Amino acid sequence: MPRRINILGSGAIGGLCAAGAQKSNLPYCCSTRDQRPPLKYVEDMGGQITTLTPLPCNDEKLDNNDLLIVPLKAFQLEHALRHWQSRISPDTAVVLLHNGMGGIELARDSIPHNPVLLATTSHGALKLKADTVKHTGMGSTMLGMAFHHESATVLRTQIQPLMEACIGPVIWRDDMHTALWQKLLINCAINPLTALADVKNGELAHISYRPTLQAICEEVCLTAQACGIFMDADSALEQVLTVIENTANNYSSMHQDIAHKRPTEIDAINGYVVKQAQKKGIDVPVNTQMLLAIKAL
Ligand code: PAF
Repeated sequence: MPRRINILGSGAIGGLCAAGAQKSNLPYCCSTRDQRPPLKYVEDMGGQITTLTPLPCNDEKLDNNDLLIVPLKAFQLEHALRHWQSRISPDTAVVLLHNGMGGIELARDSIPHNPVLLATTSHGALKLKADTVKHTGMGSTMLGMAFHHESATVLRTQIQPLMEACIGPVIWRDDMHTALWQKLLINCAINPLTALADVKNGELAHISYRPTLQAICEEVCLTAQACGIFMDADSALEQVLTVIENTANNYSSMHQDIAHKRPTEIDAINGYVVKQAQKKGIDVPVNTQMLLAIKAL
């Protein structure tokens, strides 16, 4: 009997996970906050619609037969982990799947004994309606341990195939910190610019955006290096351009947050870089400008 997958929230990435679990015939349930309507439909990139039929969620405490996937916004994590702390056993595996940084610290504080994994994805997804998600850009998902756990090897063999089914292809990373910085860089470049200019990701391929993209990449790489993570600005820019191309038709999550007047993840993205840069005495004017401009909207 495979682990039951518990997916939190009703966000676009959670929707992709639910559709993936369903297509692979894995037992899953979706836990939404308050009165929010549950997700019902997920349209794949070929236009085919999966109607979600999750198992009903019950109030039983999750155990080692469960996997809790937390595809929430960075700023929702603290509240969610505090809420779930008492609803999971110390051996329930938890996967945090969000943009930006801060998840490791929160998990260490609130669920220090649990096996916690981090995931970061470059799939594009959009909520078309309260109950409908569309897969808008093919990507991949990096997965690794958030911090040391004695059963890390066993966990990998159990959790990686489940995540592969939910939101694959999955690439296992022993250096998850580097993977997080690489994804952080992509979000620092794409998210604020698309939100400020009110455009789809693909628009950023226009040459007029190149100097800003390059400056963001250089600043993030300098900061990452000061934090002990090697990243090269030229290949970073290439990675950003590849994601722009692969998700050309997608509105970034920050664009959507601004468009729907929701809080953004700017503090966990460019804000995180600005904070780390300040600590290391590095000047990051373009990331600072992005942070202030988004906050001013
Ligand atoms: O936040 C997002 O929108 C996504 O992480 C990405 C990869 C930038 C694609 O839109």
